[in-house]
Amino acid sequence: MQGDIPAASGAAPAVKARFDKVTKRFGTGDNAVQALEPISLDIAENAFVCLVGPSGCGKSTLLNILAGFEKPTTGQALMDGTPVRGPDPRRGVVFQQGALFTWMSVRDNVAFGPLATGKPSAEAGRIADRYLEMVGLTAFAKRYPYELSGGMQQRVGIARALANDPEILLMDEPFAALDAQTRELLQEEIKRIWQSTRKTVLWITHSIEEALFLATDIVVMSARPGRIKARLAPQFALSEDPAVVASVEFVRMKAEIFGLLREESLAAQRQEAGR
Ligand SMILES: Nc1ncnc2c1ncn2[C@@H]1O[C@H](COP(=O)(O)OP(=O)(O)OP(=O)(O)O)[C@@H](O)[C@H]1O
Ligand SMILES: [Mg+2]
Repeated sequence: MQGDIPAASGAAPAVKARFDKVTKRFGTGDNAVQALEPISLDIAENAFVCLVGPSGCGKSTLLNILAGFEKPTTGQALMDGTPVRGPDPRRGVVFQQGALFTWMSVRDNVAFGPLATGKPSAEAGRIADRYLEMVGLTAFAKRYPYELSGGMQQRVGIARALANDPEILLMDEPFAALDAQTRELLQEEIKRIWQSTRKTVLWITHSIEEALFLATDIVVMSARPGRIKARLAPQFALSEDPAVVASVEFVRMKAEIFGLLREESLAAQRQEAGR
């Protein structure tokens, strides 16, 4: 498989992760659900890929297959050309609701990964401090998760994922539970972090604006069984100006994706009604 992957030099960017004809079927017999039809998708190194698609189309399933939490029925997910066999600290995962350790301080939550991989405690603490600063939570390092708002907890989750220095970040609707204002501020923050670290990111969202604002690639999925319906390459991720969202091109692409998703959401509704 390695031979298929273009070298880092030259025109084509290196492929960081790949879905190679991945399908997923849950259950057996009459109860079986075909979640994914063959999906082939390359995620370039340093890309910020957003997956959008109607509810139930298989976005989380796809992300979980790359994370190593789910096995594909056929096909495989690869990272750096090597098949994914299970979870790996090189892939950092952030879920919709922060899965923080409630009994640990914010700082200990973030230091947990570095400690678990054998870093001495002073160094793990320094790493935690660096990432807490990056997400603007230095002042809350000694607090416990319950003392934080939902948005702050999500930021701890992001700091915790970054502290493991993953090569790819897998984020499943990380901002879904937040209010619109907090969400916009965190989008700006995540864009700043991505622009400075250039981690490869796979990000699931239901928000077209969020995808356009953050992504270098938007992958639109069809209603279940999930297939790739369209792939777009917006340029707004490289902009530092929050006002890009008002540009003519942004509004045009928003309408385009809205149209694609509307067709699929209607198809998904018909599917649910016919069950
Ligand atoms: N563990 C499971 N067992 C059985 N079916 C499952 C399982 N996980 C997911 N599914 C089914 O697979 C399909 C895809 O689910 P998935 O969670 O990947 O969708 P999604 O695109 O992430 O949806 P949402 O936008 O609502 O989060 C759904 O029909 C779901 O019911
Ligand atoms: Mg999901």
